[in-house]
Amino acid sequence: MKLPFAESFRIKTVEQIYESTREEREQWIAQADYNLFNLKSKHVFIDLLTDSGTGSMSDRQWSEMMLGDESYAGSSSYDKLKEAVQTITGYEHFLPTHQGRAAENVLFSALIKRGDIIPGNSHFDTTKGHIEFRAAKAIDCSVEEAFDINKIHPFKGNIDLGKLEEIYKTYPKEQIPFCLITITCNTSGGQPVSMENIKAVKALSDKYGIRVLFDSARFAENAYFIKEREEGYADKSIKEIAKEVFSYGDGMLISAKKDGLVNIGGFIALREEELWRKAMSFCIMYEGYVTYGGLAGRDMGALAQGLYESTEYGYLKTRIGQVEYLGNKLTEFGVPIQKPVGGHAIFVDALALLPNVPREHYVAQTLAIELYKEAGIRGVEIGTLLADRDPETRKDRFPRLELLRLAIPRRTYTRNHMDYIAVGLKNLLERSSEIKKGYEIAWEAEILRHFTIKLRPAK
Ligand code: F0G
Repeated sequence: MKLPFAESFRIKTVEQIYESTREEREQWIAQADYNLFNLKSKHVFIDLLTDSGTGSMSDRQWSEMMLGDESYAGSSSYDKLKEAVQTITGYEHFLPTHQGRAAENVLFSALIKRGDIIPGNSHFDTTKGHIEFRAAKAIDCSVEEAFDINKIHPFKGNIDLGKLEEIYKTYPKEQIPFCLITITCNTSGGQPVSMENIKAVKALSDKYGIRVLFDSARFAENAYFIKEREEGYADKSIKEIAKEVFSYGDGMLISAKKDGLVNIGGFIALREEELWRKAMSFCIMYEGYVTYGGLAGRDMGALAQGLYESTEYGYLKTRIGQVEYLGNKLTEFGVPIQKPVGGHAIFVDALALLPNVPREHYVAQTLAIELYKEAGIRGVEIGTLLADRDPETRKDRFPRLELLRLAIPRRTYTRNHMDYIAVGLKNLLERSSEIKKGYEIAWEAEILRHFTIKLRPAK
């Protein structure tokens, strides 16, 4: 008999979680104004709000925490991290930052000016925010397959070369400081970008004299998908694949809270010395001196170790295998989800699961609340609340899809937890026809309303 799949780690430290009752949860979610961001984490049984900074560190990473060198300048922890970054990315120059959006702030301060155009594959919210804050524009050049939740395609994160070339032809190169490839593409569901596409984007960008940068929060997961799905990569190691990916770019920035396997951290790595020198001044102003960039020495040590671990095949097989396992279970139960399943999260199709809830009642948010009440699981709405109102008409902008994202923290939950999540959703599906009402807004902020919104049950 073929040996079954098993996790590539064993557990050394555990954290107690509390399995509450439905009555308790109904009370807590009402007290939280039906906003899951307002819940206390101790009132959540399985927390799938994000995979960012929520993973577990290894014994070796904890050892690095003790070895942390807290010198202001020239610490050995910085040297360790620099070596890891150079080994993994192949880029010569590096700056640490405290997280991903801080790396965006530092690098974009050196690169983006008013009126610039930044093409890419569905930029992440904070990335778009840092572009728009500089009066520049992020243009989404994702392939059309990315928007079809049921379409099976191995690389839904790919960039549409036709759309990209249109931009390169329309604007002068001085107005396009770089093209940004997000690996994997979080916004389109943790969907990977193929090596072939990355190579083609590089060739096209070279033709027009434009830089290629990577937003690499989940670069190791992307490399895993290339190994599994793309011809010619089955026998290459994850480290070889990741390095090849980075070889087709001029630099990268990263939120290390994902594939860095740490609770806080980020960095920038670049090929060009001149750009690095320019970014350095912004790092000193916004983050800290260039050999710590807003991180403690111990954080840098743990991150260096995390980069080596997240690019191990066994780790990724466990990680992505777990997300896939949950996806398969949900599909078996008939729960409508995005396919194929991405690297870090499951996206549940709320419009299909709750067909009787009117769109005006915020369907994905209703599903998030129902799942919390049902099973103590916290996911996040990717729907009308997140989309904010139209700035001119002040009316709700209903996006094409209403999704509930269930992001799986790394090395944190077990297969039993996955079974529990799947049954929680199955139970909801079974009584979904009875759910006819959602929620209405009691108070909201002008922008980014979903974080602080107050809701009440719709009449
Ligand atoms: N880029 C991508 C692709 C991300 O997914 C994130 C964060 C960031 C940049 C910003 O990094 O949070 O360290 O400042 N994504 C988290 C999420 C918050 O839940 O998807 P950060």
